[in-house]
Amino acid sequence: MKDKPTNFPKTQPNGEPLKPITQVLLDRRASMHFTNEEVPEEYLNAILSLAGQAPSGYNLQPWRFVVVRDEENRKRLQKVAFNQPKIAEAPVVIICLGMKDEWKERADEVFLEGAKRGAGKVDAWEQARDGALQFITGMQKMDVWVHRHAMIAFTTLMLVAESYGFDTGPMEGFDPAGVKREFDIPDEAEVCAMIAIGRGAGPEKAYPGRFELNRIVYSERYGEGWKE
Ligand SMILES: Cc1cc2nc3c(=O)[nH]c(=O)nc-3n(C[C@H](O)[C@H](O)[C@H](O)COP(=O)(O)O)c2cc1C
Repeated sequence: MKDKPTNFPKTQPNGEPLKPITQVLLDRRASMHFTNEEVPEEYLNAILSLAGQAPSGYNLQPWRFVVVRDEENRKRLQKVAFNQPKIAEAPVVIICLGMKDEWKERADEVFLEGAKRGAGKVDAWEQARDGALQFITGMQKMDVWVHRHAMIAFTTLMLVAESYGFDTGPMEGFDPAGVKREFDIPDEAEVCAMIAIGRGAGPEKAYPGRFELNRIVYSERYGEGWKE
């Protein structure tokens, strides 16, 4: 496994500073249309490698990403995604997967490497691995478990892209079986979400509003009002 990435662009492509997280959260909109302006390779790599820094249970990182840039491939993807225009328009569409089995093949590496780096006990990494495998496979629904983790990486990816000044369009409107068939995705994968990245075209979608805090936050127990 690799060390933390360091050589990623420290500014937006136009030289402006990266957008701070608060600005990203308040300014980001789900873009419906895109221009065909490319996302430069170094930015795409930065977005992906920073997304890969997302946390996951036991650091098992069960997410995988299929980056679709080729125009013909995007058109194929569009056909299994309710013909959403942003898929054909945006230069990059990323399919986010959660693997229900494949992560197990990497469990030894995750636990051993973590121990070597001081994040676990070198002489007890096998016990730790066995405990994790037992907990995950014995007590969790695998589709729920992979979604939990993959969506953190997906969200991180979206926010990093926005911080670099790109526009994004997250998507759940697709036929997972069709996406799998068209892109050789193994059966065990959950197709969690997709995202278009590029430069928004046309008027930006209006801010649709969000629930007030006292309608989504409870104090101490479910149902107990939260006062700001
Ligand atoms: C996981 C996820 C899936 C979504 N799927 C679609 C989609 O398939 N098509 C679409 O046009 N918008 C989709 N959206 C965008 C939402 O409609 C949008 O985020 C929401 O209305 C709030 O608007 P805002 O993101 O501009 O604040 C999706 C958003 C998320 C987070």
